[in-house]
Amino acid sequence: MRVLLVGSGGREHALAWQIAKSPRLTKLFAAPGNPGIATLAECVDIAADAVETLLEFAKRERIDLTVVGPEAPLVRGITDAFLKAGLRIFGPTAEAAELEGSKVFCKNLLRKVGIPTAAYRVFTQARAALDYVKAADYPLVVKADGLAAGKGVVVCAKEPEATAAVETIMIQKAYGKAGDRLVIEDCLAGQEASILALTDGKTILTLETAQDHKRLKDNDRGPNTGGMGAYSPTPLVSREMQERIEREILVPVVHAMNREHRRFKGVLYAGMMLTSGGPKVLEFNVRFGDPEAQAILVRLRSDILDLMERVVEGTLDGASIDWDPRPAVCVVMAAKGYPAKVEAGQPIEGLDEAGRIPDTVVFHAGTARRGDTLVAAGGRVLGVTSLGKDLLEARKRAYAAVQAIRLEGAQVRSDIGSKALRDA
Ligand code: AMP
Ligand code: GLY
Repeated sequence: MRVLLVGSGGREHALAWQIAKSPRLTKLFAAPGNPGIATLAECVDIAADAVETLLEFAKRERIDLTVVGPEAPLVRGITDAFLKAGLRIFGPTAEAAELEGSKVFCKNLLRKVGIPTAAYRVFTQARAALDYVKAADYPLVVKADGLAAGKGVVVCAKEPEATAAVETIMIQKAYGKAGDRLVIEDCLAGQEASILALTDGKTILTLETAQDHKRLKDNDRGPNTGGMGAYSPTPLVSREMQERIEREILVPVVHAMNREHRRFKGVLYAGMMLTSGGPKVLEFNVRFGDPEAQAILVRLRSDILDLMERVVEGTLDGASIDWDPRPAVCVVMAAKGYPAKVEAGQPIEGLDEAGRIPDTVVFHAGTARRGDTLVAAGGRVLGVTSLGKDLLEARKRAYAAVQAIRLEGAQVRSDIGSKALRDA
């Protein structure tokens, strides 16, 4: 099978690592990929959201399956373009991807179907939103409607923060048209967990659970980030809780999407808050999470191409997934300055040493080659991922590998997985 992987982050390196293991693979391309992916695939210099160029490439190279990592090309309609050209592609259509691409669409659908989520209001005028936040109870959460590279959500403890968020999103238009509409919702308390499932729009196959660590600093302090680390599975989601989330959330959403004529095929990612009143949806993503993918995919034993093909073909019924029972921990090494403006260009050393630690893979995210030197080139630079007989061992290994890596100014959380150890 000739495969084209779209994207360039740590999630895509983890996908490439799994795809490269498939005995069915004959050739793997990545667009644009990164230096880590380049050890597994031929990287081509096409941006992940350059839909037309990707389509031309896939036709010319007779690609059998295209796998889309990030959300932007999905929301932009890469799947529609490929399907129209008769090409197979893993990922939802633009209409289905609205589940992530528009928080207003997502919340309205949840409300319509009665799926538990925070109470909310939608605003189309800055004036009305500003009036509302003046009189509201706190804390509350202000969200830009559209995609904002993970920056469009602000949890506000007090009114000035909410006013500033409304101004940034709706008046200054910091995220462009993503800020034409706003969702303002109640702040939920509890533990967060990520539930990811493969679905072909009929059958849902839930993946192993994971927990992300969104804040920059230990003990969930500091600004929100794309994710500073993850582990899988998480004991915070028991088997019963997982079944409840499938029953109360995943199944009704997939059905609702069918009723809206937006059949969802691909990875459905439910960001959940486990509240005292039960599990509630924070958001949906329409692709693998990053860094959840790294922690989940190192545990996958089944052939990922088989699973993806079943999703695309609509034959997920009867499929099952074989997992490595050992837990995995992914620790992100982020560049100086992340999540604000990052300083790039610092050399990265010690990867060979890190890779010699048992059951450890160092996934690249924001890296680049400068001559013979590997350098930091993005916010999240590496995702150091280890398996262990238990979470403690997985964590020890991942942190030993982090210790072996030299990256000046690296920001690393030292508590990835601690919540699971505390609650165990
Ligand atoms: P989202 O992109 O919607 O997942 O939001 C990013 C992060 O903001 C989430 O992972 C939560 O940590 C936080 N968040 C979003 N919505 C809420 C909410 N209603 N209550 C509390 N925290 C939230
Ligand atoms: N780790 C959260 C996300 O991928 O959106």
